[in-house]
Formats: sequence, C-alpha cells, structure tokens
Amino acid sequence: MSRLIDAPALRDHWYVVAESTDLADAPLAITLLGSRFVLWRGPAGAVVATADRCPHREAPLSDGRVHDGCLTCPYHGWTFGSAGECVRVPSTAEGVPIPPAAHLEALPTLERYGLVWLCPGTPTGEPCVIGEEDDPAFRRINAGLQVWQTDVTRMVDNFLDVTHFPFVHVGTFGTEQPMAAPAVDIEQLDADFTGYRYEVDVSDAAGRPVHRAMSTGFSMPFTVRSTIRHVTGAEAGLDHVLVLCSTPVDTGRSLFTFVVWRNDDHATAPEEAIAFDRAIGEEDRRMLERLDGELPLDARRTVSVQADRASLEWRRRLRALVSGPGAG
Ligand code: FES
Ligand SMILES: [Fe+2]
Repeated sequence: MSRLIDAPALRDHWYVVAESTDLADAPLAITLLGSRFVLWRGPAGAVVATADRCPHREAPLSDGRVHDGCLTCPYHGWTFGSAGECVRVPSTAEGVPIPPAAHLEALPTLERYGLVWLCPGTPTGEPCVIGEEDDPAFRRINAGLQVWQTDVTRMVDNFLDVTHFPFVHVGTFGTEQPMAAPAVDIEQLDADFTGYRYEVDVSDAAGRPVHRAMSTGFSMPFTVRSTIRHVTGAEAGLDHVLVLCSTPVDTGRSLFTFVVWRNDDHATAPEEAIAFDRAIGEEDRRMLERLDGELPLDARRTVSVQADRASLEWRRRLRALVSGPGAG
C-alpha cells in the first residue's frame, strides 16, 4: 500500500523542523517525510540543510562538527560549505580538484515565527502568514518541539475538530461545551487559511464559564490555526491565536509544535500563558497515540457527519494535492 509520505508533491511544501533556538554551534539531525537531513548554521547565520549522508562513505554528517559555518564529516573530515559544496578533502593533496559528486544539494530553508522551516523539494509557495507577528499589540510565545507517535493526518483531523472537546478535553476546557456541535460552514478565513467560525461556551483555567468567538482553519498541507476572542469573562477583549504545526517525520510519527500570539498585557510569564494550551495538547496527544497509521484520505473509508466538514474539506484538498501532477 502506498504511503502518503512518499507522495512527491508533499516535498514541495514547507515544514517546521526545529525552533531557531535549537540551532547554535552544533549540527542537528532531523527526519522529514521518511528522509534524514542535517541542519547547521552557515557563516552568516542562515540555516543550511542537506541530506544527512556524507557522499564519501555515507557517515551521518549530523555527527560532525561546525567550524566557521562549514560542516566537517566525523569519518574522514570532508568539509561542506553553506551551499552544500564540498570545500575540503583532507586526504587529497592541495590543488587536486574535488570530485563534482562530492558536492551536496542545499535545500531551501527559512526562519519565521521563531521556527526553522525546510522544504525538501522546490517550494510552491511560502509558509502561512500570521498577521499578528507584525502587530506590536501581540507577543509571540513558542512552545518547543515534541515527537508524537501518531500520523500527521490524525493530528490535522483532530485540530480541525471541536466535537471531541467534551470527551478528550474534560480535564481542561471541555466541561462547559455543549454536546451538539455548531454548524460548520466552510469559508476562506483569509489568504492562507480555510475553515469555519463558531461561538462556544467553555471553562477558563479556573473553571469559570466564558463565551468565546473562535475560528479554526487549515493551511495546506498540515498547519492549523485557531483564533480565540474572549468575549466575556475576566479576559474579555483578549485575542489568543494558536498555530499548530504538524510535520510528518515518518508514517505514524510526527513533530508537533504550537505558537501562540496574544494581545495581553505581557505580564504573565510566557510558560504560564501557554500552560493551558500545553495541557490541551497533551490530552489530544494521548488520544491520537492510540490511533493506528494514516487517516484514510478516501473519505468513504471512515464515517463522517456534518460537524466533520472542515476535516473533510482538508482531506479533499490533500487528496488533490498528492494525486496532482507529479504523483507516483
Ligand atoms: S564518510 Fe564522510 S568523509 Fe568519509
Ligand atoms: Fe483537541
């Protein structure tokens, strides 16, 4: 059976593979779509990414060292520059040309929202735009990366779904949630996100009922954003934007991180401001790690109801994406 992560079209998108603070002086090994890559900072500080395989005898370059922005292989010391080019073969006399096949391909990377994004193919666009990043009323809080033992498709499906709230999130905010879900009308929320708007009555961290106006939407392939406007309660007027980034490491294994933007008074410590989101994420993770393999992209293989429309629309687009030009 073919695996989603082998779909060539997925290689032409951007994925969160680290936080900017994860990359300092040492190389970092990551796995994306079943392939191993190494990341390091080049001489000007920009992130360099190549396959984590030395072209000489296939040693993992991520076991090597970075000096002056160049990465040296731990096995025989071949050294690679910030364009992936092999700049030194220690065993070869000076003046002897470096074999052309010794050069590595440097893959597109960029840093945005405190995150390192990697595209293992040819980018078809940019990572999603979060307007609050440039709004001085908002601050950004990054949560750090985790490995979840679940498929990326299970995560996006879950993050687009509100009907699990009263069951999965009883330990956090689900207790005031009515069982019947709001009507889901799919709309283009902005240039990058498609989803739906709704209003909910939930519990705040202290267990008090509050009313919230929310939106939940996706940006292809695997980014989900929830916007939460606190309408009533102690935090009325507060906007809380939550972006959930899921990265396919392999089938059934994913990287997860979330980023929060808030227009609060910046008085609360960052970790305290995202503690609730972190607890909610752990509840989702416990459920999702019980689910096997990929969510079938063929919607007929699972049963859905009206409340599942956002996920169905995302699955329809993902199916079109992976079966488009270049699909194997
Ligand atoms: S395997 Fe990398 S230098 Fe030989
Ligand atoms: Fe959830």
